[in-house]
Amino acid sequence: MRLGAVVLAAGQGKRMKSKLFKVLHPVCGKPMVQHVVDRLTEMNADRIVVVVGHGADQVRSTIAGAVEFAHQEQQLGTAHALMQAGPLLEHEDGLTLVLYGDTPLLTADTLQRMMEAHRQSGAGVTLLTAHMDNPTGYGRIIRDAAGEVQAIVEQKDCTPEQQAIQEINTGTYCFDNRKLFAALKLVNNHNAQGEYYLTDVIEIMRSGGSKACAHVLDDPQESIGVNDRVALAEVEEIMRRRIAHAHMLGGVTLIDPASTYIDADVRIGADTVVLPGTMLRGKTVIGEDCVIGPQAEIADSVIGDGVAINRSVLSESSVGSHTQVGPFAYLRPGSKVGEHAKIGDFVELKNAQIGDGSKVPHHSYVGDAVVGSRVNIGCGVITANYDGVNKHQTRIEDDAFIGSNSSLIAPIHIGQGAYVVAGSTITSDVEADAMAIARQRQTNKPGYASRLKNRIRGKKPLSSE
Ligand code: UD1
Ligand code: CA
Repeated sequence: MRLGAVVLAAGQGKRMKSKLFKVLHPVCGKPMVQHVVDRLTEMNADRIVVVVGHGADQVRSTIAGAVEFAHQEQQLGTAHALMQAGPLLEHEDGLTLVLYGDTPLLTADTLQRMMEAHRQSGAGVTLLTAHMDNPTGYGRIIRDAAGEVQAIVEQKDCTPEQQAIQEINTGTYCFDNRKLFAALKLVNNHNAQGEYYLTDVIEIMRSGGSKACAHVLDDPQESIGVNDRVALAEVEEIMRRRIAHAHMLGGVTLIDPASTYIDADVRIGADTVVLPGTMLRGKTVIGEDCVIGPQAEIADSVIGDGVAINRSVLSESSVGSHTQVGPFAYLRPGSKVGEHAKIGDFVELKNAQIGDGSKVPHHSYVGDAVVGSRVNIGCGVITANYDGVNKHQTRIEDDAFIGSNSSLIAPIHIGQGAYVVAGSTITSDVEADAMAIARQRQTNKPGYASRLKNRIRGKKPLSSE
């Protein structure tokens, strides 16, 4: 049977008190509405329609995947939002799932089970409910004496008796598509908020002779709707635990899951150990047998197998297998380090390729550079890549040796196997196998040290010593 889905994401989210539109707030590095869309994609929904309004352009350009958009000009309520998907969906047969863009913890498994229950009961609508210890803010589920769902009453429209009800509406529904769009036309806005409530559709469908069923969630946490930043932090923590769990079951060791922050789409190979204080963000992919951390922050980077990254920051970079990074290295976007290489302490790379087996062990800046294999870059070497207007490239060929504390003034080319003597300021290209020395010649003056000291002492009053 055809499965359509609509995600409501047009609200502003006033309670977030934010310049960022609510559904774009990230949960474990991913906009919460994207979590919802991803679940629907996982379920192979035939069509996914996202209703946008507040920040429509930004929401449209942020959401990834095969979705269509409907526009809600004015935010007149959830029923009104869903009606905007009418032109795209109302003439279809089959089922339509409706989800809110602010409930990122719902799992595909839960949705699947709700749909299963829906099919078996032959209901016109099945809604997902949960029992909450603190139901404040949610719509309450009103059941009759026989336990049948009669209606949903919003918090602001509840009588004191209704407020005491702990079964709440999660904002997740499975509808017979044609019945849904027929019922939506009958919703009015006669309520405390003057909005068109989607929740009113339950009563409307019932009075039209359709059955309404409730599918109760086992784990009420799944249904948390994010309305403010307190809920955002709650949801983040639950999601974080879930992600950590999945990695551990996949063979990754997390020494302290509670102090390890892994974004939703990060992938990690088996037998990798992630040490405390580490943040793995965005689309980062890490291979097997690595040791990551403590305190590594890696964003949108690709790390090979058997890599060690200690107390370092990497972003939009790649590191080949069996390479060591850190402690205290900084790999800025565009850094590509090969295999069996070493990027040591206080080294900054930016837009730099470092070949296999090359070493930048300490205190260097290598920017806009292409460095070959088996190159050694001594302590304190820098590439002077910026003249104040333009960036220039440094190229260092295989097996070159750059002595400590040399400055390579770009654009510059160091040939294969060349040797730059420590302390040199290199302004001209060095050909293959050449030795370059570019520093002032040293003069030693025998016996001059004590003469100098005496002279200095003679000029100063004794009290200052
Ligand atoms: C809603 C439900 C409530 C339920 C709760 C679950 C209604 C009337 N109430 O309340 O029963 O317990 O969710 O989390 O449905 N939206 C639009 N256009 C609008 C209004 C809202 O697209 O005009 C979107 C919002 O972006 C949001 C979702 O619909 O993603 C829910 O809206 P929200 O205002 O958060 O509803 P709640 O008050 O949480
Ligand atoms: Ca909400």
